This record gives sequence, C-alpha cells and structure tokens, in this order.
Amino acid sequence: MNNIVLVGFMGTGKSSVGQELARRLQWPFIDTDAEVERETGLSIPDIFRHYGEGYFRKKEQDIIQRVMQGKRQVIATGGGAVIKKENRQLFRSHGIVICLRADPEVIWDRVREKDDRPLLQGREQVAKLLAERELFYRDVDLTLDTSHKAPEEVGRTILAQLGWQKKGDFSLQLIRVNLPIAGYNIFVRPGILSRVALYLPGELGKRVLVISDNKVSSLYGPVLFSALKEGNYQPTLKRVAEGEGAKELSVVADLYQASLSAGIERHCPIIALGGGVVGDLAGFVAATFMRGVPFIQIPTTLLAQVDSSIGGKVGVNLPQGKNLVGSFYQPRAVLIDPTLLQSLPPREVRAGLAEVVKYGLVFSPELYHLLEREVDRFLALDPHITTPVIAECCRLKTALVERDEREEYGHRMLLNFGHNIGHAVERASGYGTFRHGEAVAIGIAAACYLSVKLGLLNPDIFDRVKGLLERIGLSTHLYGININAVYGNLIYDKKAREQKIPFILLKDLGKPVIFEDVPREIITAVLKDLGAGK
Ligand SMILES: NC(=O)c1ccc[n+]([C@@H]2O[C@H](COP(=O)([O-])OP(=O)(O)OC[C@H]3O[C@@H](n4cnc5c(N)ncnc54)[C@H](O)[C@@H]3O)[C@@H](O)[C@H]2O)c1
Repeated sequence: MNNIVLVGFMGTGKSSVGQELARRLQWPFIDTDAEVERETGLSIPDIFRHYGEGYFRKKEQDIIQRVMQGKRQVIATGGGAVIKKENRQLFRSHGIVICLRADPEVIWDRVREKDDRPLLQGREQVAKLLAERELFYRDVDLTLDTSHKAPEEVGRTILAQLGWQKKGDFSLQLIRVNLPIAGYNIFVRPGILSRVALYLPGELGKRVLVISDNKVSSLYGPVLFSALKEGNYQPTLKRVAEGEGAKELSVVADLYQASLSAGIERHCPIIALGGGVVGDLAGFVAATFMRGVPFIQIPTTLLAQVDSSIGGKVGVNLPQGKNLVGSFYQPRAVLIDPTLLQSLPPREVRAGLAEVVKYGLVFSPELYHLLEREVDRFLALDPHITTPVIAECCRLKTALVERDEREEYGHRMLLNFGHNIGHAVERASGYGTFRHGEAVAIGIAAACYLSVKLGLLNPDIFDRVKGLLERIGLSTHLYGININAVYGNLIYDKKAREQKIPFILLKDLGKPVIFEDVPREIITAVLKDLGAGK
C-alpha cells in the first residue's frame, strides 16, 4: 500500500485522524492545506481573500501532485480537493482513499468556532456543500463515519479495515473496478466475513436481505448476521436449496416476496452469500426488484471468488438452457474471504483451480509460475497463498470487465479459454458427471495440445500444463468419452457461425491467439490422442 489518503468534508476529522494513523503506523503525516499555507506563507482565509478560490485550488493541485509521489505516508486533503478529477485520479493511483463522514450537525458544531474555513458561512451552507460533493465523496475505497467518535477510535477502526498487522503490512487486498456508471471495490481479506460492516458502502439502507443456500447459510449465516448487526444493519435471511436447481424463475418469484417481507426498499441491499448459483440468482433478484436495489457479493466457492462474483453477469436458467434469462448488473462491492474455502469440498477447490490455471495461462505467466511453485500450499488453503492468488485473478478479470463491461467488444472472450471443449465434454458426458471446472481442465489440456498440433506452442509447455493440472488432481484425458459426441457439441455450440469453430489457443504463456477455423481432422486427432473413443 503506497499511501493512505483521507478525503472528506471539512470538520470530519481528517487532520486529527490522519495524525493518529501516522503515529500508529510511524509514517509521515502530510496535511495538504498546511502545505499550501507553508508554501505561500499565507493562511487559507488570506489566500481566498486576496487571490480567490481558483488560485488556492491550483496551488492545492500542485502540492497534491508532488506529495502523491511519495510512499507510505498518511495524507489529509482539503475538503474540496476531490472536486478535481485529476486529484481523484492521483489519490486512487497512489494510495487507498478513505472518506471520513459526519452528520451535518456534528460538522457544524466542530467548525463554527474556527475562522479558517472560508467557504462556510452558516449551518445551511454545510448541508448545501455536502450535497454538492456527495458524488465525489462516494467515489472512494472505504468510508467511515466519525460523528461522536474520538480520533483514536476512528484510527483504530481504519487500521482494522485495512487489516494492519503490526509486524508486517496490510492483509487487505483492494481491487477497484472502474466502470463508466458505477465502479465498485473488490476486497480480499482473510476474516473479512466477520467484519463486513466495515466494508459496506456508506450510503446503503439498514435493512438487508441475505440470500444463501441451506448449506452455506448454516455454516456462515450466524457470523455474517452478527457482523451486520454490529454495523446496525437489520438482516433477514432467505435460504434457497443447494445447487443449480435454485437458479429458476419460481425461486426468483419467491425471493421477490421475501424482499417485500424484509422491507427492502430502493437503498436497501441484497447480499449474496454463497457460490456462483446464489450469486447469479441473488444478483438477478437485486437487478430487477424495484428496478434495481444495491447488490453485494460475498462469494464462498473458489469459482465464485475468482470468477462469477466479478463482472456483473446475473441470471437464471430456463428448462431449455442455462443462463437464458439474465442481465448485466454490477455489485456495489464484492467481499472475498479466502478462509471460507476451508469448508469447501476438496473437489470444488480443485474444480475452481482450473479457472485459476486458465488466468495464468492466458493473461499472466507470473501467476502461472506462482501456481507451479505453490500449488500444494494453495490446495492446503494457506491464506498467505490463496489471498494473493485470488486477488490476482480478480485483478485480471477486472481489467477485461473494465474494457468490455457488457461483452460487446470481444475482450472478455479470452476468458473462455478451454471452455468450448470443456462445454462440449460436459454435454457429451451428461451434465453432472463433471464439475464445470473439471471439464474446463480437460478443455485447457485440449486447447494447449491443439496449439502444439498447429505448431503454435512449444510441446514442453503442454507437458507442464498437463503436469500442473494432474498435480491439482484434475483429469486431462477423455477416456470413456465419444469423439463424435464432443465434436457434434462443438459444432452445436457454434451453429450460428457456419460451422466454423473458433478456438482460443496459446502461442506461449500469457500469449493467447484466436484461431478462427481449426480443421475437423486436427480437432478429432487431438480428442483421440487425449483418450476419446469412437
Ligand atoms: N456470473 C458469472 O459470470 C458466472 C461465471 C461462471 C459460473 N457462473 C455460474 O456459477 C454457478 C456455479 O457456481 P459454483 O461452482 O460456485 O457452484 P455452487 O454455487 O452450486 O456451489 C457448489 C456447492 O458448494 C457449496 N458451498 C459453497 N460455498 C461453500 C463453502 N464455503 N463451504 C462448503 N460448501 C460450500 C454449495 O452449497 C454447493 O453445494 C453456475 O450456475 C454457473 O452458471 C456464473
């Protein structure tokens, strides 16, 4: 973490809390208002009086530009610094941005005695300026209300939010998803479940509907509930059955009724606590109930933590096919607790790891090498390895989602590496035989082997990939599966594209290539070499 940047209205305690944080972290403290005064040799009211607000803002921006180059500093900014987009971008790219808030009455009480606040001439002005700046204060990483709290308490809470470990660094990994309309944060941190209230966006209503399946709610519902209650939220739980069967319109109708009974209104969030099934289902309900209520993802399977909770795809199945009804609806926050994987059946962990291998192969040789080195520690669910790996996958998916939020330009297509043969194998073997990730692992092996056959990829890399998948415990062969059935399903998948089967292949680690038309003979030869029969 480079810097901690405190933003917020005047009188919310940025200077006193900043000094408290700096003392605890033993980092330097910088107050940008004080820097302006030091550089100009004038007090802020004098600058406003003699040179005007424009001059002050220019000086402030120059100073922000300079101080943001430093590292490991606590920086308190002036109340209006967030108005300039350039400042907001600098804060974000060089630090974690925390907004301090307080009730208007509390702010007025704190500032009325002082004569160094040139923009504040009365109680009404506080409310007016607060409203004007509201949008800017929302566009931050974390928010904290300081009303009726001492700086020591606020400082302690901020360090808890960041997961500060006295001997080391911060255990929180934060990934910002920048989108044109509503960006959001992904927080990855062991133990975050018991502290969720610290990470929920400040503007949410207090009534909350938690949607979870029977198994996950028994395991983690109580922890989540007490964490929500600590933040004065009033949660209601609605359970659904485990498994794909819950992604269904009759269940959606049931969940609308539950939302009404729980008193969910426009600003009250729906929280998904569970795997991809619960995330897709609860997200669809959140997207459509009252034309959209805030949605929070707390993914509990590896697949959901590295993939399905990010990117805003929500939906349910129809009898005719999977995910046929749905929408793009972005969550307001994704809270990922890698320790929840400890109760996940090992088969689900292995299946989720296939997606992680995919990220490494297609986008990040570093991640792939890390997996090769540390896969055993990952399988043992050591949070020191699961946390950075999950966070890296989130970063990689976020980069694609930011470029192609609604899958319009093809950037997200690369996420389907290994998936076309994977889907064809899932269908050919009868749904339920393989977990999705297990079929994807076979698809990954097949795509790598196809890349070798087409002269694109060094055979050593295929051997390494196969070796890694097998160490994870994922099969890479097609024994017992019929070649023609797999091929038929590949064609079926792509029937709209004149029977040409486009493949995402690899030239090297991190170097994907889209091959528009792979000849049938080569595909069937690959399937045969991988063990599929006639
Ligand atoms: N929206 C997207 O972008 C996207 C992407 C990929 C997949 N999906 C969807 O995701 C779904 C599959 O998700 P999944 O693989 O997470 O399956 P899942 O949600 O069915 O969860 C698998 C099983 O694990 C259990 N479980 C979950 N968390 C647990 C925990 N921490 N401890 C113990 N048990 C736990 C669940 O009760 C369930 O029985 C599919 O419906 C698929 O369509 C969506």
